[in-house]
Amino acid sequence: MGNPGQKQCSHAGTSAKDYRMDNQRTSGSQDVTDERAYVLSEGEYQRMRKDEIRSWNERNGTSPIEADVERFLTDVLSLEWVPKTGKAIELGCGTAPIARWLAGRGWSVTGVDVSPTAIEMARAQTDTDDVEFIVSDVTNMAEVKDGTFDLAVDGLCSHYITEVDDRTTFLRETYRILKPGGCFVLMSMALPILPDDFRRMHGVIEEGKILAKCKEGQRYKGAVLLEDEWYIPVSRLEHWQDLLQALQHHDIEPRLFRVALCHPEDPLSYIAIAALRR
Ligand SMILES: C[S@@+](CC[C@H](N)C(=O)[O-])C[C@H]1O[C@@H](n2cnc3c(N)ncnc32)[C@H](O)[C@@H]1O
Repeated sequence: MGNPGQKQCSHAGTSAKDYRMDNQRTSGSQDVTDERAYVLSEGEYQRMRKDEIRSWNERNGTSPIEADVERFLTDVLSLEWVPKTGKAIELGCGTAPIARWLAGRGWSVTGVDVSPTAIEMARAQTDTDDVEFIVSDVTNMAEVKDGTFDLAVDGLCSHYITEVDDRTTFLRETYRILKPGGCFVLMSMALPILPDDFRRMHGVIEEGKILAKCKEGQRYKGAVLLEDEWYIPVSRLEHWQDLLQALQHHDIEPRLFRVALCHPEDPLSYIAIAALRR
């Protein structure tokens, strides 16, 4: 992603407006299409398959499951109020390292991802009947019955859901497919950020959304034109306190949370939450 600095900007379908990084203005966006940027992960998995990269993290040379993630999941599963076995779902499973990790601990797991190629790769890497897969958008899992799961794990996909209405449906869907007394583990990038370091390393952020350059950007919801280049929202950063509140609003009660606050080497914050589905 580039770092365009201060630029003239227009949202898809609107005239040019003054644009400043990190500004607080409300976008007057009139979207020309309804396509969400997260469908682009399909292209990323096709490239990974061609390059024989087996998981999302391995693109960056890190291990398939980060140590922090493994530690948090291990701690959560040891909590007294968290079911010990049963049915689990990983939301945004990619090639499914977390789903297989759960299966190795006795869970019967369903992995869901919006990318068909990710699911094909996941199937090829999985040699147990304890994991099944569905290609689906986690904001609409019509094929999953109400109250099916004891455990739902966000496989670091929630920050890719950039639109507020989609995030609301995502939480509503998660509530719906969990059993009462089930556990939801949300893991996400979050605010606050260190703006200068963030800009240097990741580029543009506007209204809590990370924007990436995209040639055909105008096709995507929330697209922004910066000096003749289209940018699309690829991730949404919410303040970790807002995430806790959003869960409560959906009758999902946060009980354990960890925050890794931003620092100059990593200007983003991260949150992991374990919550009880009431
Ligand atoms: C950071 S990757 C992590 C993948 C996997 N959990 C792992 O640990 O390797 C996030 C995943 O979320 C998926 N994703 C993003 N938005 C989604 C959506 N709306 N519905 C389903 N999957 C989605 C992407 O395709 C991607 O595989």
